Amino acid sequence: LESSTEEVISHNRYANYAFAFDIDGVLLKGADVIPQAPEAMRMLNGENEYNIRVPYIFVTNGSGLTEEVRCKNLSKMLETEVNPGQFIQGSTPMRSLVEKYDTVLVVGGVGEACRKVAEEYGFKNVVTPGDILKWNPNVSPFRKLTEEEYNASRTLDFSKIAIGAILVFADSREWASDQQIILELLMSKNGVMGTESKQFNEGPDIFFAHDDFVWSTNYNLSRYGMGALQVCISALYQAHTGKELNVTKFGKPNKETFNFANSILKSWRQDAYETHFCNDKDCEDEDHAKNGKKEESASDKKLREAENNEDTVVAKAEETTNADGSKTEVFDLLPAAQTVYFVGDTPESDIRFANTFDKTWYSILVKTGVYQDGTEPAYKPKKIVDNVLEAVKFAIHREH
Ligand code: G3P
Ligand code: MG
Repeated sequence: LESSTEEVISHNRYANYAFAFDIDGVLLKGADVIPQAPEAMRMLNGENEYNIRVPYIFVTNGSGLTEEVRCKNLSKMLETEVNPGQFIQGSTPMRSLVEKYDTVLVVGGVGEACRKVAEEYGFKNVVTPGDILKWNPNVSPFRKLTEEEYNASRTLDFSKIAIGAILVFADSREWASDQQIILELLMSKNGVMGTESKQFNEGPDIFFAHDDFVWSTNYNLSRYGMGALQVCISALYQAHTGKELNVTKFGKPNKETFNFANSILKSWRQDAYETHFCNDKDCEDEDHAKNGKKEESASDKKLREAENNEDTVVAKAEETTNADGSKTEVFDLLPAAQTVYFVGDTPESDIRFANTFDKTWYSILVKTGVYQDGTEPAYKPKKIVDNVLEAVKFAIHREH
């Protein structure tokens, strides 16, 4: 089996187009894998009638675990190695806030997971609603911490702590008490619990990892997401203060996330190209060696020469930021992807995201998630197909 796989790889070509995938409703439904997803990945990895390797990245609004852990889980579920260098989640761009805020309240997710993500991003003082309830359980009269939650929460004096920002990292598991705490802080003096601002203009800033009103799980109808919680918080804030709440939202369909996705795609395409098509006999990169040095065929040589022609080589290296925050120097050896097929299930976030910023992105809507067959999508995709495998087949055939 191994040698036949190598055979496929050694005859592969590298596509001048690429894919980007939404996850929930396209590849997964809650804890279940969408049955066609592993085959779709295999096709892109070279098991297709054109023997072509097509690079791809993942752009999900879902968050709550580190990029590394999520990629490990995805690798198992999709039966192919998923690398943090090809992955962005809703919370990923929040790394950019590390320098700006000293103490942040991180909301959402299971147990301590989001605190760990925030600390891994580099935030210095990360507090949670659990810490606040441990400090004073009367903050939310009907919510009692379990013993496990109590033990995991930190002992802090919130009458002396100024919370600079509220970061809603992942879906809240406790809407009632999380809203109580968030609203108190928004209306506080300098983010100190137990205080009230007269003008309501001294509270912390608030950020959401995304704004999905609904999302697709393994239930037959869509469920309320983080965007719905944001609607509730903004409505309560308005009702209480008469003012509009200023909220920053990351994730699809926002531009920061699009720019981030493009920069990840650029470095990932380069990386995958070097890994699978390295023809440099002196190359000492371990990843390249892992795939074995390959005899360069006449057509590979032609392809390499075409890709390295003077029009496309940029002598200067550019620095790009990876999903884990590290920097990579990217030599612009490959021409930019001519078309990026973005496969999503939610018209309001995915299709809008792919249609808005760059004409080279081509939106494909699947019927396995939020979008319901037979309805008019709020944002019109270039193509509607049954599932992710059909999306991949459609795009590959369109290209050849
Ligand atoms: O909370 C997750 C969700 O709202 C959407 O995830 O993968 O469909 O962008 P995804
Ligand atoms: Mg989705």
